[in-house]
Amino acid sequence: MDFSDNYVFVILGATGDLSRKKIIPALYNLALQGKIKDFAVVGFARTDYSSGDLCDLSRKHVKNIDEQIWSDLRSRYYFVPGDFFNENQMKQLGEEIKKTEFEYNLSGNRLFYLATLPQFFNSIAQNLSKFKLTTENKGWSRVIFEKPFGEDLASAKKMNASVKNVFNEDQIFRIDHYLGKELVQNISILRFTNMIFEPLWNNKFIDHIQIILNEDIGVERRGNFYDKYGALKDVVQNHVLQMLSLIAMEAPVKLTGNYVRDEKVKVLRSIREIKDSDIVLAQYDGYKDIDSVASKSTTETFVALKCYIDNLRWSGVPFYVMAGKMMPKRVASIYIQFKQPPCPFMSGCGIKPNHLEIEIQPNDGFHLHLNAKVPGSTELAKVKMDHCHSCAFVNSPEAYENLLLEIIKGDQSSFIRSDEIEHAWSIVDAIKKKKISLETYAPQKIPLGALKLINNDNREWNQS
Ligand code: BG6
Repeated sequence: MDFSDNYVFVILGATGDLSRKKIIPALYNLALQGKIKDFAVVGFARTDYSSGDLCDLSRKHVKNIDEQIWSDLRSRYYFVPGDFFNENQMKQLGEEIKKTEFEYNLSGNRLFYLATLPQFFNSIAQNLSKFKLTTENKGWSRVIFEKPFGEDLASAKKMNASVKNVFNEDQIFRIDHYLGKELVQNISILRFTNMIFEPLWNNKFIDHIQIILNEDIGVERRGNFYDKYGALKDVVQNHVLQMLSLIAMEAPVKLTGNYVRDEKVKVLRSIREIKDSDIVLAQYDGYKDIDSVASKSTTETFVALKCYIDNLRWSGVPFYVMAGKMMPKRVASIYIQFKQPPCPFMSGCGIKPNHLEIEIQPNDGFHLHLNAKVPGSTELAKVKMDHCHSCAFVNSPEAYENLLLEIIKGDQSSFIRSDEIEHAWSIVDAIKKKKISLETYAPQKIPLGALKLINNDNREWNQS
């Protein structure tokens, strides 16, 4: 047996939504595809459940269940009721992990998934260390947690420092689920393995880039959380800036771990401070009527930005960002518009600039728009070359499946390093400090300010 090929997943906060809806279904799918074989799961949370019943709560989040695989997963799932702050119960968790390792002949590799509220991360990390659950004497130990990584630069620094007290950076896997999405994972592949793109990927050939993360729904039942955060902290600090750094970074020495993260950090450090007039914050009409939202809330549910990256490659190329709730449609995409070519004709010129769209969702794929001659005429039309990713690769994995596999392999390229988090917060903190006035927008409409932001530059948001 390969030493690194067997492990225990320890889920702290095993009764919560993240564990039930994402982690257990992802483990099931990985087991179904035979990508994980020698493993066990130990769940830990305050509410008491029987192990089987808790596992079964995830059944409805799995499509077309294979009963044999499900029952195997169920039999490998051990639940320990307990509190992270109770020393005896933490010791009991340690005992249960050892017992499970013995029973399944596992070598001591442990993944600790902190599927809890972020305010508990610090105490959990301290207790894991105090009771020696994470000491790496027999196998490796890795810790996984998700955003929010703080709420500003100061709190993020504190959180980073306390986790690093217990774990080394190479044991820490900070998840941004966008980095697990197939098309986001394809950005570097598209750029660095296709020589038709990389030579053009600069200010000589690219007119501008748009990063769009729009949702057609509102805040729904998350008002309590969202009202404290808003769009800037909820999705720009993480998903949007991650996509921007992948699209703009220099070629890493290798497409792995710290090589990728080093290049992404350089992009974040090169983003010029954004001017007040290049920031649009807006809130949808009706947001303040949500029960869990403050009646006088000034939280933005929409952000549009124009920013510049001050380096040789991108000097003078605007990056437009749009991210909002209650938008006309749900779409996450990166739109790269190339420069307008000069007109080769004697009179009239219908040439449109080319553009490449990397659509992350819902129609995952690449779309390249070119000019072609209309048959029987000298007119030009814009035509589309399409790669539909989920048509070419059926059953492509969910973000969490990709991410869990990478954690098992110990590959950190799709996980955020502490310095990336801190630089991203500096950008968001600087915007927050500016006290930009808040626009109101009608649901399912793009705020006027955002239209002006791009139209004033004689450009348009991609709404294809
Ligand atoms: C989360 C945000 O990180 O990302 C949510 O907290 C947002 O507000 C979600 O809805 C968007 O993710 P996806 O995968 O649905 O595009």
